[in-house]
Amino acid sequence: MPLSIQHLTSTKQLTRADTDAILKESAKMEAVVAKGGSDLLKGKILASLFYEPSTRTRLSFEAAMLRLGGDVITADGLQFSSLYKGETIEDTIMVAAQYADIICMRHPEQGSADQAAAISPVPFINAGDGPGQHPTQALLDLYTISKERKKVDGIHITMVGDLLYGRTVHSLSFLLGLYKDVKFTLVSPKELKMPEKVTSFYKERSIEFTETENLEDGLDADVIYMTRVQKERFENKDDYERLKLKYILEAKHVKDRDITVLHPLPRVGEISTDVDALPNAAYFRQVQNGVFVRMALLAMLLQKS
Ligand code: NCD
Repeated sequence: MPLSIQHLTSTKQLTRADTDAILKESAKMEAVVAKGGSDLLKGKILASLFYEPSTRTRLSFEAAMLRLGGDVITADGLQFSSLYKGETIEDTIMVAAQYADIICMRHPEQGSADQAAAISPVPFINAGDGPGQHPTQALLDLYTISKERKKVDGIHITMVGDLLYGRTVHSLSFLLGLYKDVKFTLVSPKELKMPEKVTSFYKERSIEFTETENLEDGLDADVIYMTRVQKERFENKDDYERLKLKYILEAKHVKDRDITVLHPLPRVGEISTDVDALPNAAYFRQVQNGVFVRMALLAMLLQKS
């Protein structure tokens, strides 16, 4: 089924029909990988533009393209790019579109993805725009939730950590808003609370949410989504040092509970390594799911699914 969109910059663009189709296609991609890949995107090129640090997202997009028989060209690091020389985002995208059939971009500025999508003659995917959105992460989170919990409607999710600057929790909140009876517990220090753009969305949709500063208040949920305090967004480094490890999830918090632990990664201490061996720990499975979801998106946006 084709998507209702040509470019993906925000989870707010997606309909429930879109997410249903993406989840279904992702499951098919899992089978494709198990069979050794395919040549569905043979002859197609992905331009992978990363102007902000990334390991997972970039490798995941590139692995997804390669698993489908496509090719990848990469630009990495703002200081090595024409953007650094003063080229506009619009020109960078127009140039990349002359080389490639589809573009993904990570950029430190919120709104850069919309700028890129507005001009791109080929499908464009936002791979993270500053503290704005990270829609493909949210889709892989959704896919992971649906696999681990066998449902999405009715789930109770606790989000922990840097809810202010963490783009993944913003994108995932909007996406879960498409499902019935989803409930949020938001655990953060006062300084890093979920921004108004998200809480006003919960209110508009009459989505139940509770804000607290205590990790223990969030343990009675189906999913706990831990996040890293986003060092690179802080102007004052002392604030970062003070807030960085306010919440550390340990095995003792989750071992006797039916709660799935997610994290977009990288973790920098928020989940103790003693959680890794527990069946609750789904964050490495979440990474693997990312490839299937990005394969699905690349194929669907290139109208090849
Ligand atoms: C996240 C991101 O870049 O927003 N990482 C990722 O894409 N897997 C989360 C983070 O950097 O903390």
